[in-house]
Amino acid sequence: MRARAGEYSQINAPRHSRIAGTGSDLPPLRLTNNDLVDMLARRGVETSDDWIVERTGIRARHFVGDDVNASDLATAAALRALEAAGRTAADVDLIIVATSTPDMVFPSTASIVQRKLGVFGCAAFDVQAVCSGFIYALSVADAMVKAGSANCALVIGSEVFSRLLDFDDRTTCVLFGDGAGAVLLEASDTPGVVATKLHADGRHLEILCTPGTVNGGKVFGDPLLKMDGPAVFKLAVGVLGDVANEVLELAGRTTSDVDWLVPHQANIRIMQSTARKLKLPADRVVVTVDEHGNTSAASIPLALDVAIRSGQIQRGQRLLLEGVGGGFTWGAALVDY
Ligand code: ACO
Repeated sequence: MRARAGEYSQINAPRHSRIAGTGSDLPPLRLTNNDLVDMLARRGVETSDDWIVERTGIRARHFVGDDVNASDLATAAALRALEAAGRTAADVDLIIVATSTPDMVFPSTASIVQRKLGVFGCAAFDVQAVCSGFIYALSVADAMVKAGSANCALVIGSEVFSRLLDFDDRTTCVLFGDGAGAVLLEASDTPGVVATKLHADGRHLEILCTPGTVNGGKVFGDPLLKMDGPAVFKLAVGVLGDVANEVLELAGRTTSDVDWLVPHQANIRIMQSTARKLKLPADRVVVTVDEHGNTSAASIPLALDVAIRSGQIQRGQRLLLEGVGGGFTWGAALVDY
């Protein structure tokens, strides 16, 4: 008989969470750098494929149309994760969506995903930690599974960042894309998510923010993304190296135990610097930023799913996931896949 979702065999054995399946979704509209160069030129904004590739490693990104929201991408990614795990939506007892581009102010995008999946009653909520959102969501889901309050959790990162972009600001609008990634996390008697570590430092709010707010039916302040790129870059390289070492130490492991680094896909130079700091060869870093751009909370699960489906990441391998983003927030997770 097939085990129920999240069923684990040994009574009183330590309870773990493990990734049972992954999925992702990208909107069909793909813009190359040159498509963006042409689009921006029509607004009098100058950029080039060479600049974008050299400074970021990005060659293309996907943008949603007006009729698609974060919950649509999230639901499609979730269904693929369920299928990969051999589960159905009826097995799910927790939904967490990491997003900074929710469908509405409220209810949560997770509640909307629950409705679209057609399952009712299980816990569903959003996590907002910008580009670190997926690591935060994974850490919360892992803790809930280990505590016994969930058995089968959908952990999703989904973003429509194109909605926040100022296409007159070439320092930011060339960097981001839309997409979603999901993992199905199940209770298990073997690990799984081995260790996680989260951080935030609110002193750096201003270097990466979308400061607008809604009051009395009007938007006050700027509702578009602002970023001091060089300040984010400098902080990101420092904290990503540190948190990777922290999470390895928590697990009693070293970088030689890591098969794949799956970092937040913001900029190839940040990923390469982090890998160098950790003394990890570049060919053990999963890179999808070239094709997706920075998809914020979606980038890590999207990269993970692409690497799993292409056969790059195999069952039994040890993964180091890490993210950094607005807040300033950052975190890492060690996962035995
Ligand atoms: N096209 C052409 N030229 C450009 C563009 C562009 N799109 N953007 C900036 N430039 C110019 C600048 O005007 C500047 O020109 P100047 O020297 O004449 O003044 C020059 O390029 C260099 O600009 P810098 O900002 O110093 O470029 P830098 O090498 O730092 O690269 C970048 C900028 C890519 C944004 C980089 O700083 C970066 O990746 N930062 C980190 C971003 C990140 O990791 N974000 C993650 C978190 S995202 C989240 O949480 C939502």
